[in-house]
Amino acid sequence: MKFFIDTANIEEIKKAWELGVIDGVTTNPSLISKEKREPTSLLREICHIVAGPVSAEAMSLKADEIVEEAEGLAKIHDNIVVKIPMTEDGLMAVKRLSAGEIETNVTLVFSPSQALLAAKAGATYVSLFVGRLDDISHTGMGIAREVREIFKNYLFDAKIIVASIRNPIHVVEVAKIGADIATIPYSVITKLTRHPLTDIGIKNFLSDWEEVKGK
Ligand code: G3P
Repeated sequence: MKFFIDTANIEEIKKAWELGVIDGVTTNPSLISKEKREPTSLLREICHIVAGPVSAEAMSLKADEIVEEAEGLAKIHDNIVVKIPMTEDGLMAVKRLSAGEIETNVTLVFSPSQALLAAKAGATYVSLFVGRLDDISHTGMGIAREVREIFKNYLFDAKIIVASIRNPIHVVEVAKIGADIATIPYSVITKLTRHPLTDIGIKNFLSDWEEVKGK
């Protein structure tokens, strides 16, 4: 299972990379906008920190324009993966890009049927937004489980990214389903490291060790 970090914040990316558990980065227009920086230089800097795929989203809506924008984004760095929203034009663009060297991440996927089409069009990655489904009382992880089953049935090359992760339980569920990747906000990555019994254990070991040293 791979972990991507879901942010465009340089400090968070550096800290997560140093933890040694990160395999890539996903950004989106909202995450980039929060950083108040010129997007190309920000994406280039991210690519220099993380030796793995970095998703950057194309904002065009027509197939020809998406392809042109994707080609521009791919020039930023070899590790750039172009995020393309799940639309008919998006699928056409994915099909065309899949014939070349440019990797794609079909985003804003909320149903097994959308994921199936994205895989058939030749997407490198398919991003399922589980948290946003949970927000509207659907079971996001149930959709992820169905997509995993479909991709397994037909040995699709597309990798499943479970996105819109909101808590550690989501991450454990992704691992149980066997999806390829969880893209996780920094705040959830840090929560994954913690357990109150670990903190209590360290405190007790330290105080016992003080006694050993005192003898
Ligand atoms: O990067 C896409 C996705 O993970 C966004 O998550 O929290 O905005 O639903 P969220």
